Amino acid sequence: MTSIAGELSRIAGEAFAGEGLDAGLGLVTLSDRPDLCQFQCNGALAAAKQAKANPRAIAEKIAARLKADARFAKIEIAGPGFINLDLTDAALGELLGQPRAPDTGKDKTLVIDFGGPNIAKPMAVHHLRSSIIGDCLQRLYRANGWKVISDVHLGDWGLQMGQLLSEVELRGLAPVYFDAASTGPYPDTSPVTMEDLEEIYPAASAACKADPARLEKARRATVELQDGRPGYRALWKHFVAVTEAGVSREFASLGVKFDLWNGESSVHDLIGPMLDDLKARGLSETSEGALVVPVAEEVDKKPMPPLILVKSEGGVLYGTTDLATIIERVRDYDPDLILYVVDHRQHQHFEQVFRAAHKAKLGGKAHLEHVGYGTMNGADGKPFKTRAGGAMKLYDLIAMAKVESNSRLAEAGLGADYSAEEKDRIAAQVGIAAIKFADLSNHRTTDYVFDLERFSKFEGKTGPYLQYAAVRIQSILRKAKDQGFETGAPAIHSPEERALILQLLLEADVMAAAEDKRAPNMLCDYAFELAQRFSRFYSAHHIMSETDTDLRAARLGLCARTLGALTRILGLLGIEVPERM
Ligand code: ARG
Repeated sequence: MTSIAGELSRIAGEAFAGEGLDAGLGLVTLSDRPDLCQFQCNGALAAAKQAKANPRAIAEKIAARLKADARFAKIEIAGPGFINLDLTDAALGELLGQPRAPDTGKDKTLVIDFGGPNIAKPMAVHHLRSSIIGDCLQRLYRANGWKVISDVHLGDWGLQMGQLLSEVELRGLAPVYFDAASTGPYPDTSPVTMEDLEEIYPAASAACKADPARLEKARRATVELQDGRPGYRALWKHFVAVTEAGVSREFASLGVKFDLWNGESSVHDLIGPMLDDLKARGLSETSEGALVVPVAEEVDKKPMPPLILVKSEGGVLYGTTDLATIIERVRDYDPDLILYVVDHRQHQHFEQVFRAAHKAKLGGKAHLEHVGYGTMNGADGKPFKTRAGGAMKLYDLIAMAKVESNSRLAEAGLGADYSAEEKDRIAAQVGIAAIKFADLSNHRTTDYVFDLERFSKFEGKTGPYLQYAAVRIQSILRKAKDQGFETGAPAIHSPEERALILQLLLEADVMAAAEDKRAPNMLCDYAFELAQRFSRFYSAHHIMSETDTDLRAARLGLCARTLGALTRILGLLGIEVPERM
């Protein structure tokens, strides 16, 4: 069974079909005006256009048919022919009793590409957003029944690699790797640490900017690395391993996991055959010494440069590996959808890659989509930096959030008597929740200002507020259990219960809608509304002190259902609920 709106659409669709109209017109959605009705169906307007008839007259006929269904408490025609619907409390209760798992992803496969840290560079803020949004999407799609394969897709194959190699050579740090006559073997341990790389890379990049000859050396090293020079490959492997160890620590502290730790380099062997194939089919051409795929279209309002596959001096690019990676993913997983959760400033890059893939029909049945996002800014409105003005490391950011949540917890008098170990664990969970919720609750395409103090508050629309709401329900249920109180099926005796149950019923609808729009903020809105409706219910009614045992059991049942939904949705956001706070 699918969503509530799906179920009601089916019923309304039958009514339209009964009038000889298209059943698809019976689309029922959540009401835009919850103060007027619970659900609405606007199909009579479209039907009137099709049948060249009066929309109100059609709405009347549909309404008359729906009246036969006792589950509707109210069927009203509004304005030019909108149909407003309310369900009876009995129907709402019955629907709540039915299992309702989202199944939008039945038999479908998603490959999701996110994270994207680069070798030798600490993760920057845009990698944080990619990780948080991408992780939420992978959890959501899995929960909706998709088979999901996530790929961290390391940036490990571009010019930066040649810059690093040549810098190590010039500094004389590890001469064994640079003897052109040698084919190894090479040492097992890395001659550089992550800290070394973090210093070497910016120095190399600055040197290449300042000196064309130095840049040329880096370019040559990149080409030789890609062509397989043994010493370069061996040293590069150390760079990759050292970086992977560092970034996997950061992902672990964020609670983000990947199925594949592939990188741009992973498809190297597919590139040669791909280039031959594109050439043979006349899809690529030479332009100023480079091999390119023209991707401009007549309808373009802005110039669209060709996708460059091979530079004039040799060496493949970011777009080349992205194109070959599509071939690899289609070969290995035959996905229905490939999502790239990458900063929206890379929009043109993906447009070029997707157009080239379509032109060459490389994507199989996959729909290719760039899920872009805006920037996380500092108070000055510019991309968030450290106080000293440097790029903010993810690890430091997480540490900051933990410190902040620690003091918030202390301020709120929470966990004062817990062990240091438990306090530490809670502070980490709360700190992560603060960052993730703040990030996800904005629509992903908007920029937002990083304000840790506001994100960490226990009041308002924050991650910690929602965690606290869930912890409070956990504690009610724990106490009830200790007292031997029964939990029963939720029932509606008041407007607060009705409002809460309606919200609970929409869980699957919201999950489907958030998937459709790739919009984690819809999950955040849902969780916040749920917590608020619970809070209204909780302040209006006795639970533990209720003496009517049936009523108490029903209310405890409602607490349990709310906790379940809240925990699940927070789980989709990558937010854990502490056992206690
Ligand atoms: N490494 C890239 C960056 O730092 C992100 C990679 C995104 N994924 C991709 N398939 N292009 O911006």
